[in-house]
Amino acid sequence: MRLRNIKEAETKIYESPYIIEDYKNYKGKFNELFNNNNPIHLEIGMGKGNFIINNAINNPGINYIGVEKYASVMIRALEKLEDKKIDNLKLICFDASTIEEVFDKEIETLYLNFSDPWPKTRHEKRRLTSDTFLKKYTSIFKNKNHIIMKTDNRKLFEYSVISFNAEKYNIVDLSLNLYEDNPLNNIPTEYEIKFSSKGFPIYKIEVTK
Ligand SMILES: C[S@@+](CC[C@H](N)C(=O)[O-])C[C@H]1O[C@@H](n2cnc3c(N)ncnc32)[C@H](O)[C@@H]1O
Repeated sequence: MRLRNIKEAETKIYESPYIIEDYKNYKGKFNELFNNNNPIHLEIGMGKGNFIINNAINNPGINYIGVEKYASVMIRALEKLEDKKIDNLKLICFDASTIEEVFDKEIETLYLNFSDPWPKTRHEKRRLTSDTFLKKYTSIFKNKNHIIMKTDNRKLFEYSVISFNAEKYNIVDLSLNLYEDNPLNNIPTEYEIKFSSKGFPIYKIEVTK
């Protein structure tokens, strides 16, 4: 998928069978896209896709949907998929600030990996673990709310723990150094590979309610 310029990505991504262009038509019925009733796991901010692609390959009994805001980033994930046929993977290019308009009571697990930290207080609402986003997620979950987050950013991690607590989530699992504690079966993201290889601790939290 060669690109002459970034702008071209915005049309080019729709040539891929993995991209759902008419995603707004599937609210509440995303299982129809997969032709089965297997659980659906969602990643918001999937970036170049290493995590979600390898999860889909390793777990054929789970359906995976990846969301990425920028076509210029999504296209890098699509390049990884060019020679692959993965039936349990679909990707959507949109800004998750409207997530509650896209999914309805159908997601089992939400992954937030190395989300943008938005360190300035005036940008707090853009953080994917702000109370604004946590409230939006509530209507997308099928049964329990279930979120798994990884980050290298200590401040974002601490902020997210407080935010989950304020929204009455229970902590199922927490690691302040994933690679020392429990790296077994861990599928890394591109950012994770970069930061863990430099020796930075990777923080992980799993919450439900
Ligand atoms: C720091 S990168 C991490 C990418 C990947 N998860 C990883 O760990 O390698 C954050 C990604 O989230 C995407 N993103 C940020 N806010 C988003 C939003 N509101 N909706 C969808 N994607 C978003 C960004 O475009 C970027 O690709």
